Amino acid sequence: MYARAHAPMRILQVASEAVPLCKTGGLADVVTALSQALVRGGDDVRVLLPAYPGTIERAAATRMLDLGDPLGCGATSLWRGVLPDTSVPALLLRCDALYERPGGPYLDASGREHTDNYLRFALLARAAATLAIAGPAVGWPVDIVHAHDWPAALAPAYLAWWDGERPATVVTVHNLAFVGRFGPSVLSAIAAPPAAFATHGLEFFGAVSFLKGGLYYADRITTVSPTYAEEVRTTDGGEGFDGLLRARADRLHGILNGIDDHVWNPAADSHLAGGYDATSLPDKRAIRSALAREAGLRADGDATIVGSVGRLSWQKGLDLLLEALPALLASGGQLVVLGTGDGGIERALAEAAHSHPGTVAFHRGYSEGLAHRIIAGSDALVVPSRFEPCGLTQMYALRYGTPPIVRRTGGLADTVLDDDLWPGQGNGFVFADPHVDALANALTRAHAAHLDPKRWRALQIRGMARDFSWTVGVEHYRSIYRLAQGDRRGAPP
Ligand code: ADP
Ligand code: GLC
Repeated sequence: MYARAHAPMRILQVASEAVPLCKTGGLADVVTALSQALVRGGDDVRVLLPAYPGTIERAAATRMLDLGDPLGCGATSLWRGVLPDTSVPALLLRCDALYERPGGPYLDASGREHTDNYLRFALLARAAATLAIAGPAVGWPVDIVHAHDWPAALAPAYLAWWDGERPATVVTVHNLAFVGRFGPSVLSAIAAPPAAFATHGLEFFGAVSFLKGGLYYADRITTVSPTYAEEVRTTDGGEGFDGLLRARADRLHGILNGIDDHVWNPAADSHLAGGYDATSLPDKRAIRSALAREAGLRADGDATIVGSVGRLSWQKGLDLLLEALPALLASGGQLVVLGTGDGGIERALAEAAHSHPGTVAFHRGYSEGLAHRIIAGSDALVVPSRFEPCGLTQMYALRYGTPPIVRRTGGLADTVLDDDLWPGQGNGFVFADPHVDALANALTRAHAAHLDPKRWRALQIRGMARDFSWTVGVEHYRSIYRLAQGDRRGAPP
C-alpha cells in the first residue's frame, strides 16, 4: 500500500471490459490496472460491467441491489464481487435477457454485432447513473463516475439530464473510431429526452452516437495519451468529433496509459522459461532461442527477429507490414506474428508463413502466453499502426528490452524515440508516413543497429529504464477527478 497523500475518493469505473473477466483489447487491461492503482493509493473504487456469462461465478459475486426493469428489457440487478486476482471490487449488472448469451461483448457467436447493443450498453450507463444518484441511500455516495469508451459513455448524459445532485463525470476515449452509432429511433428505447437529439446532445450526422453523450456531457474528457489528445482535435484524427473537441479543449486532457508491471515483468514472468533484467540481458538469448523453436523460425543469431502482437485490423497497419515483408526478409529479418481479426489479413499472413518457412511465422488466435514469449523473445517489436490512441505492446516491449519499431502517431509517438534521429538517446525506431517505404526503411535501420551489439545493448537498457507503471498516470487521473468536481459545482476549471 502506498502512503495516502490525498482525501480518498469514491470512484465508479464503468466499462464493457475489465481483465480478467472480459477482454477484447487494451481497454480491459487499462480499466483493471487503473482501478487497482487507485485502490492501492487508498481510493474506494468499484468497476461496473455487464454480467456476461460465467462472470458472477468467477467474481464470486452476491446479489446487492434490485434495479427493477429500467429499460423494459427484463429483470435487472447488481451483484457485488471482486475482479479475480485483484483487490478491486466488481459490480456486475445482471440482466439475463441482454447479457446471458453466447458471443463476445459486442459480437454474437457468428461475428455479427448484437442487434440490441444499444440496449445492452444503454442499460450499463443507466445503471451507473442510477447507482450514482442513489449512492447516499445505498451507503456509497459516489464522487466520480468515470466512463470508458462508447459502451459506457451515456452515463454522463443520463446524469446531466437528472435535475438533482449528481457526482462529477469523466469520460475516457480509448478509441474514437468506435462511436456507438445507432438510428434515431433508439432514443425512446434508451429513455433519452427527445430534445437530446440535437447538435447540443446525442445527434451525430443524423444518427445517435453514444460516444457523443460522453464527449458532450461529461465534466472532463481524457484520451489515453497526450499526442492523441491533440490528434482528436484535427479533421484527420477527429472522426467527426473534432469540432466538439476543439470547443471543449479546455476540458480535454491526454494521460498516458500505464502497464501492469506485475504481469509484464521480464524478471518474474511465469510464461517464460527464465527471467532477466537490464543487468542480465544475455539471459534474453535463451528466451529468443526458445521462441524461435516454438514458432518454427530457423536458428540464426544474426537475424533480427521482429515480433508483432495485436488485433489484425486496418488501424494496426499489418497490411503495411505484409507489403514491407520482402524488404524485411532481404535485410536479414525474421517475422513472428500473433493475432486475429480481419480475414483478409489473416489469410495473407498464413500465405506468407507458408511461402517463407523458417523465416515467417504466424499464429492465428489469442494467447497470453505466446504474447509474453514474443514480446520477450523477439529482438524488436513492430507496431505499424495508422493511428494508435495509446498502444500497450510497445510499452511491454520497452520493458522487456525489445526495442519497438513504430509509426509516429498517438501514444506510440509519446513513448518511442528514434535512435537514428536522437543518437544515443533513442529507445527504438520511428517512421512517419503510413507507407511501405517508410516502414521498410525503419525495419532496415533497426536491423543495422541490431548488428552493432554495443549500440543495441545501450538501446535496450534505455528502454528498460523508463517507468511505465501506473504510478504517474494515476496521479494525473486524480487531478482530473478533482477538476471535474470543480466543474460540476460550477467553479472555474
Ligand atoms: P488495442 O486495445 O487497440 O487492441 P493495445 O495495444 O492497447 O491495443 O492492447 C492490446 C492488448 O491485447 C495487449 O495487452 C496485447 O498484449 C493484447 N493482445 C492483442 N492481441 C492478442 C493476441 N492475439 N494474443 C494475446 N494478447 C493479445
Ligand atoms: C484502445 C486503443 C489502444 C489503447 C487501448 C487502451 O483499444 O486502440 O491504442 O492502448 O484502447 O487504452
